[in-house]
Amino acid sequence: MRELLIAEVKEFGSELPPISADPPEHKPYKQLILPLFSPKAVEEYRAFTENLANELIDKHIASGKMDAAVDCAQQIPPRVIAYIIGIDPGRADDFTDWTRGIIELGQTDPEARMKYRRLIRDFFQEMIEERRDNPRDDAISKLMAAEINGEKLSDYSVIGVCFLLLVAGIDTTWSSIGSALWHFGTHEEDRKRLYAEPEILPTAVEELLRYYSPVVMARRVLDPIKFGEADMVPGEKVIMNFPAANRDPDVFDRPDEVLLDREHNRHIAFGVGIHRCAGSNLARMEMDVALRVWFDRIGDFEVTDLEAVRWTGGQVRGVRIAPMRITAR
Ligand code: HEM
Repeated sequence: MRELLIAEVKEFGSELPPISADPPEHKPYKQLILPLFSPKAVEEYRAFTENLANELIDKHIASGKMDAAVDCAQQIPPRVIAYIIGIDPGRADDFTDWTRGIIELGQTDPEARMKYRRLIRDFFQEMIEERRDNPRDDAISKLMAAEINGEKLSDYSVIGVCFLLLVAGIDTTWSSIGSALWHFGTHEEDRKRLYAEPEILPTAVEELLRYYSPVVMARRVLDPIKFGEADMVPGEKVIMNFPAANRDPDVFDRPDEVLLDREHNRHIAFGVGIHRCAGSNLARMEMDVALRVWFDRIGDFEVTDLEAVRWTGGQVRGVRIAPMRITAR
């Protein structure tokens, strides 16, 4: 295992900026990508996302059944992030397989993780070559033209940023949309309430982000530090357990209950500090659209076979299979 990890660092380095960068390198990378996910930019992706969500429902509505995880939640984020980066949304299934290969399978299988890292790296190298002499109006071309401290980014850094955007944009939001649909498909009272009071959707989205917080991150200790009773030494890894923090009884009233209209909800599902999620506006928009279109188009729904439901754990937690009975409006 150790040899494989060393081989992985030798082959790929560890650069996926900004998540892999410390200050002062972190800031310029973050500033490069934030405009892609500003509230204004994200609104420009709304129509694409709405069309997509409607198409998915069109495809399944007549059959009376739909897997909320596979047929809906899984389909939206890879296409939206592909559209933003400037790569073919038609290859969404490949992007999802590669991301799962790293985030799900790759957590315990370093060889698989390297295989999928190679696929993503080679894919983005190809995308860079295609744009080298013919820049397009897309994120890859913008990153290739960008400068940090007066210098163009290397291919290695452009690949690192695109790699991060692809992987960070897929499993996370797929999980949050899936958990939300699963929640409504198994909690009749909350489902009825959202049908009756669609105006509470924005607070419901925040509450579901808090309650089902899909993402856990880690940091590596650089300097010796004592935190509470724990002595941490350089090289150790520290898990940032955002989901647990989001159930902190000192911060949240009735933390283990889903309150769709929770007023005070300073959750940290998107992290805190300098590495706070760059895509939070996008994730919120995708959740809003997925749920809004689902509730608009579907008259009622419920999970039909609880035994068949499957969740994935690890760094990103979300529902991966959730068969539902659906009726048209
Ligand atoms: C519900 C969906 C999402 C959740 C829960 C989530 C959560 C997180 C968390 C917890 C972090 C790490 C924060 C830290 O280390 O302190 C993070 C970082 C990041 N996320 Fe997200 N994320 C989501 C969706 C997205 C999307 C759609 C994108 C778009 C590409 C994205 C891009 C990023 C990037 C680029 C970073 C690194 C930021 C930095 O290092 O400064 N995320 N996210």
